[in-house]
Amino acid sequence: MSVLRMASWSYSEDFVGVPPLIDEAGREGAEMGAAPVKPAVGSALRLLAAAGQAKHVVEVGTGAGASGLWLLEGMSDTGILTTIDIEPGITNVARRTFRNAGIPSQRTRLINGDANDVLPRLTDAAYDLVFIDADIASYQHYVDQSIRLLRPGGVLLIDNMLYGDRVADPAIRDKATVLVRDLGKSLRDDERLQSTLLPVGDGLFSGIRQ
Ligand SMILES: C[S@@+](CC[C@H](N)C(=O)[O-])C[C@H]1O[C@@H](n2cnc3c(N)ncnc32)[C@H](O)[C@@H]1O
Repeated sequence: MSVLRMASWSYSEDFVGVPPLIDEAGREGAEMGAAPVKPAVGSALRLLAAAGQAKHVVEVGTGAGASGLWLLEGMSDTGILTTIDIEPGITNVARRTFRNAGIPSQRTRLINGDANDVLPRLTDAAYDLVFIDADIASYQHYVDQSIRLLRPGGVLLIDNMLYGDRVADPAIRDKATVLVRDLGKSLRDDERLQSTLLPVGDGLFSGIRQ
């Protein structure tokens, strides 16, 4: 990649500033091992939630609440974010993040649990947007559940689909990279979705449920 191309990429990554409370949540999450979405991913989440006037959103991988705040900023004022995280300590930090940001408690449903168990309990075709940002090993399961949860026209967003620039290099064939690479290709070819792979942050797969 040329130096100018790199500079353009870096410029667009930082093009939209990170609101201070999201920045703070991101730093807190990173300290606890829950790395937040990159700024360009966050602003894309906000944009896509706003474009669809999303009211019912599911997030897999709450972290300290950085991506949740981006989503809430874009969602309809009465929208409800259902967000799932397996770590009770992280869930408590996210609860504080949303409170400090002045988000009314009825707008967030924080579920502490394994998303593999929680997602199957959510209602079919009831959600406008699902965002996945948790453990890579379970991505296929999350995707299967997400497609069930989305209404026609709903949006599926998945972070880390370039997996630290490993996916693009066919010589890299460790288990996690192969899993992400194969998942991306199968989603691209899935007729239930109209999709693209946005090269923001660590790669944001975006698909609309047909
Ligand atoms: C990358 S962090 C999420 C960061 C968050 N989306 C943000 O931008 O602030 C991944 C999160 O997934 C959670 N996680 C990992 N495995 C999980 C599982 N099986 N079910 C639910 N959450 C899980 C971790 O506890 C961690 O908080």
